[in-house]
Amino acid sequence: MSQQPVVRPQRLTVQQLRDMKSRGEKIAMVTAYDATFARLFDDSGADMLLVGDSLGMVIQGRDSTLGVTMDQMVYHTQCVARGSQRAMVVADMPFMSYQPSVELAMLNAGRLLAEGKAGAVKLEGGARVAAAARAMVAAGIPVVGHLGLTPQSVHTLSGFRVQGRGDKQAAQILEDALALEEAGCFSIVLETIPAELAQTITERVGVPTIGIGAGARCDGQVLVCYDYLGLYDQLAPKFVKRFGDLATATREATRAYVREVKSGAFPGNEHSFH
Ligand code: KIV
Repeated sequence: MSQQPVVRPQRLTVQQLRDMKSRGEKIAMVTAYDATFARLFDDSGADMLLVGDSLGMVIQGRDSTLGVTMDQMVYHTQCVARGSQRAMVVADMPFMSYQPSVELAMLNAGRLLAEGKAGAVKLEGGARVAAAARAMVAAGIPVVGHLGLTPQSVHTLSGFRVQGRGDKQAAQILEDALALEEAGCFSIVLETIPAELAQTITERVGVPTIGIGAGARCDGQVLVCYDYLGLYDQLAPKFVKRFGDLATATREATRAYVREVKSGAFPGNEHSFH
């Protein structure tokens, strides 16, 4: 008896994302940390799922991303890859997994692809990480850059604040974007910079820019899923739009469950085995 092969939708490729920029078609990226949400986001048409080290804050309850480890990133990347079929899965390289040396950066990026099943990795910084990005790309690892407010540098940036406001800082960020493109990054995340600067960068680089707090002229947008779903309220950056209120829905459903357990209304006969 012949068995029909299971046909899975192909994941979005680097080339398809470049083509989207050429066509002026916007790219929708969201963060994801587990298989269940990854499946929902994939079904909803997200083009890229970012396993962000923001999981340190929204999943682990830390006040920054700095404590997230490589093992944790590999684990969450595996979950997201298992739950999705079409979107490209991008895994963040956590703090100190790429800064010390190009060799360490390559080994860790390789783990995220080989063990985590990511399709690409993302690292923060401009010219200073270009050598690591170049080496990864040469080894066949697609790389996304990240400029502007780079949360792993929260202490040197003096907190979560808008970057690139002065001429000198703006010129530096543009120069860094060009350095990342030259190193082979296939996309660049621009976080919390003036919309005008993001527009200039988007026009100057050939690769898609993905904005978060960087205005409407980027080639795509990314938001932390816990923010736009209304699940995380510890920080409320101006650039977040709440597309849902899952915190209220979760509280209401859980209160109803607790009430019914206490009153004995749940489980009913229909939830019981006889
Ligand atoms: O870690 C993360 O979620 C990110 C996005 C905010 C871009 O890097």
